[in-house]
Amino acid sequence: MKLIKVKNYEELSKSVCDILVKDISKKPNLVLGFATGETPLGFYKELVSAYKKKKADFSKITSFNLDEYYPIKKKDQNSYHDYMMKHLFSKVNISKDKINFLDGDTKNPEKECLEYEIKIAKCPVDVQILGVGVNGHVGFDEPGSSINSRTRLINLTSSTIKVNSKHFKNHKMPNQALTMGIDTILRSKKIILMASGNAKREAIRHLIDGKISSKWPVSFLKKHRNLILVVDEKALG
Ligand code: GLP
Repeated sequence: MKLIKVKNYEELSKSVCDILVKDISKKPNLVLGFATGETPLGFYKELVSAYKKKKADFSKITSFNLDEYYPIKKKDQNSYHDYMMKHLFSKVNISKDKINFLDGDTKNPEKECLEYEIKIAKCPVDVQILGVGVNGHVGFDEPGSSINSRTRLINLTSSTIKVNSKHFKNHKMPNQALTMGIDTILRSKKIILMASGNAKREAIRHLIDGKISSKWPVSFLKKHRNLILVVDEKALG
């Protein structure tokens, strides 16, 4: 694991953006795994600004998003699809047909997840961006998830529902989600995990010092040979 310590959220966002801009310039047809939540928002702003300054070109990039609430419609302002459109995809020159998303409105989640796995197997993720939940989840791989898990429908824990509900407008948060599995994530060639703020301290401690355990799914990332942890002072403790 490579640990990059940064002072604060602003440095975190810039530092991850710098890594990615270099990766894109080395491989313009990079396959990127994107995450949502509050943590990557500053990083997406930096990416948009790099694009505007012509430092990053997204025209050949393929993207796979990690997860989506279930059930939810794409157009719902609370969906991760809407989040990605709003914060990144509508602001850079990524080609719409190269954006891959789990469909939170599918009638057949099992089929949807299997098809997503097949797509990823055919087009492996070069760089997976990750955040971490307060309870140590990555994507929506909640505590109890197996290291062998693949893309699937998952029940969200009450702790995640409590933490994420504050982002929901107009209706209640669904209590299920579709998510890449731990094994799916570990098959990415490189993983960049971002963490900021006191609330993430315990999860980061389990990643750095703890045992590998399904109680803290983030700890499974220790198994990856090319993990970069970018963490600010508050999250490092
Ligand atoms: C959500 C997402 C995760 C994200 C996590 C942390 O549950 N499914 O992918 O990493 O929350 O979010 P935040 O960055 O808002 O703390």
